[in-house]
Parts: sequence; structure tokens; C-alpha cells
Amino acid sequence: MNMNKTITVTSPLLPDLTEFEKLLSKIWDSRWITNNGSFHMELETALAQYLKVPYISLFTNGTLPLITALQALRISGEVITTPYSFVATTHALWWNGIKPVFVDIDPETGNIDPQKIESAITPMTTAIMPVHVYGQPCKIKEIQDIADKYGLKVIYDAAHAFGVEINGESVLNAGDLSTLSFHATKVYNTVEGGAMIIKDEKTKKRIDYLKNFGFASETEVVAPGINSKMDEIRSAYGLLNLQQVDQAIELRHQVASQYRKALTGIKGIKIWNDTPGVKHNYSYFPIFVDANEYGMTRDELYFKMKEQNIFGRRYFYPLISAFSTYRGLPSAGKDNLPNAYKMSEEVICLPMHHLLNENEVNRVISVIK
Ligand SMILES: Cc1ncc(COP(=O)(O)O)c(C=O)c1O
Repeated sequence: MNMNKTITVTSPLLPDLTEFEKLLSKIWDSRWITNNGSFHMELETALAQYLKVPYISLFTNGTLPLITALQALRISGEVITTPYSFVATTHALWWNGIKPVFVDIDPETGNIDPQKIESAITPMTTAIMPVHVYGQPCKIKEIQDIADKYGLKVIYDAAHAFGVEINGESVLNAGDLSTLSFHATKVYNTVEGGAMIIKDEKTKKRIDYLKNFGFASETEVVAPGINSKMDEIRSAYGLLNLQQVDQAIELRHQVASQYRKALTGIKGIKIWNDTPGVKHNYSYFPIFVDANEYGMTRDELYFKMKEQNIFGRRYFYPLISAFSTYRGLPSAGKDNLPNAYKMSEEVICLPMHHLLNENEVNRVISVIK
């Protein structure tokens, strides 16, 4: 076993270079490099089919569809969301002049706890923005019931939930809109990239205007849109990666199984198992360290791993609500978010990607053991 080779937390899924070069030469021949080119159109169709969703609009990253979804639904005032996510979730609210209202998470899933949503609703609340953290589905029905009762919109940050299904139905069909990130670190990547999942043709049209400066035709601008179009080069790259993403997910599944077999039952280390009926994408493998029971804090273990060239990630630490932009908000206090604070202080996401071999996974396991 090579004990010195660096084990990174992730590694990008890259298309075969020769295949990519063939598509690049087609792009060079056509001289059409962005603005709804043929690879862009092909990727939208292929992804909608793969993900089992009605409509999809490609974006240049996973943050701009969040910002655009809020614009499209004219969300304002206050939005209920989770502190246990990547900062892009709430930054999207801030960029729209919307106040985030943090609600605590369910310690079993890391996702917003629907039972705590109602008490955070005020006359200013217009929407709920949950996150399927690590690709673990939120309690979709409970959230929708609350939204329906109070007349709220639901926008899912589904950045981690590529391909996740519950009983054969995509989680991306939940709520009013869902967004994806195709960043290099994700299960499926287009280098940088993202998408919005849309339920009807009219909304798809409007989203397509909004991501192209608001242009509805050559001479008509219908909204203060943004520029967030995906180009032909990354669309072609994305088409090739789509052909191999199932295999990559299966390889991740094998890594998760190896971790689970070895780490189950270690005192002070909590891991999650698959949820019955859910098709997981194995995008992350979080473990939770109880310092008292394990005999070492999360940080001690994290730095011990680092010493051995094993790079996990304390994802999500610090909580969004602890950053300077947000910590002054009334809902950001530790007493309002005990489960989120606890999880953020206990979590390490272990190395997880399609290229990890058995020996490398064993190296990670032996540090923890
Ligand atoms: C939960 C979540 N939301 C949003 C984003 C933003 O995606 P991107 O980096 O593609 O802009 C990320 C990605 O890193 C994320 O993890």
C-alpha cells in the first residue's frame, strides 16, 4: 500500500480526451460556440430524459439558477431555509434582497426539519428553500403540505441530488423549481455548470429569457435578466460525461459499501445507510464523530487524516449562519439551530469518487479505526 500518495476528497469525472477532441472539432467546424448551439440543445434533451424531468434549462454554474429561480417566481421578503448547506444557497437570497430565515435541521438527514418550519413563518414569508444535503432527499411531502397551507413557493437547492429518485420518481420534480450544480466536484460535472428543473413549457421559456439578459426576441427585453448561458464546449463535455455517469455512480456505491462494512459499529462514529426506496448517487460519504465516545474530536481526526495525506472535508463547517453576512440575523443564533451546530461540529466527508481503489479506501478506514 503506498502510504504517501495523496487521497483527495474528490476527483472530477473527465470525458475521454480523444472523444472530446472529436466533438471540439465539430464545434470548430460549425464556428457556433455559444447561444443555444446544437450541443446545448442536445444536452438539455438528454439530461431531461436521463433525470426523468419534464424540462431543464442549462446554466453556467449552480449558483445562478438559484438566483434566477427567485427572480422567476418573484420571491421577496423572507425565505425559510437551512443553515446546513453551501453558502451559495443563502447568497442567492441576499443577491435578491431577500432575508434568509434559518430553521434547524433533522439530525437523521441533515435536511431542514419540516416540523420547525411553521413557527418560522411570518407575513413576510414567501417561499421555502430546502437543500437535499449530500443528495439525501428532503421530506418533500411535509414541506409541500406546509407550502400549500400558507401559499408559499418551494425552490429546492438540489445541487447534490443529481439522479436521486424516490420509488422511481426524480426528487428534482418536487416543489416549484429545483436547481442543480454541475461543478467539477459533483457526481456529474460540466467543469462549471448547472441547471434548473422546470415543470411546464411556459416557465421554461421565461427561464430561458431570464438567463439570456431577459431577451424574448431580437428586439424585446421582458425582464432584467442575467447572462448565465452554457456554451457549446461545456455542453459537448457534458454529453460525454452523461454516457459514463452511471458507471461512476456504481463505482462510488462500491466505495460507500466498503466504508460501511468497515466503519459500522465503531464507537463514536456515526454513518448513514441507504434509505429504502431511494436511488442514491453516493455524492458524499459523511461520518459524524462523537468526541466523548470516540476519544478524539472531529478536528483531531481530520488533521490526523491530513498528516497521512488523506484529505476529507468538514462540509458543512462553519454553518452558513455563522458567517459574518448572516450571524446578525435573529434566526442565526446557536439556540435556534442546535442540531445544525452539532452536525457541523461532528462531520467529516470522507474521500469519495469513482477513482478510489480498495487499498486507498482501506488507508482511510485504518486511520479512523
Ligand atoms: C448545496 C449547494 N448549492 C449551490 C452550490 C453552487 O453551485 P456552483 O458551485 O456550481 O455555483 C453548491 C456547490 O458547490 C452546493 O453544494
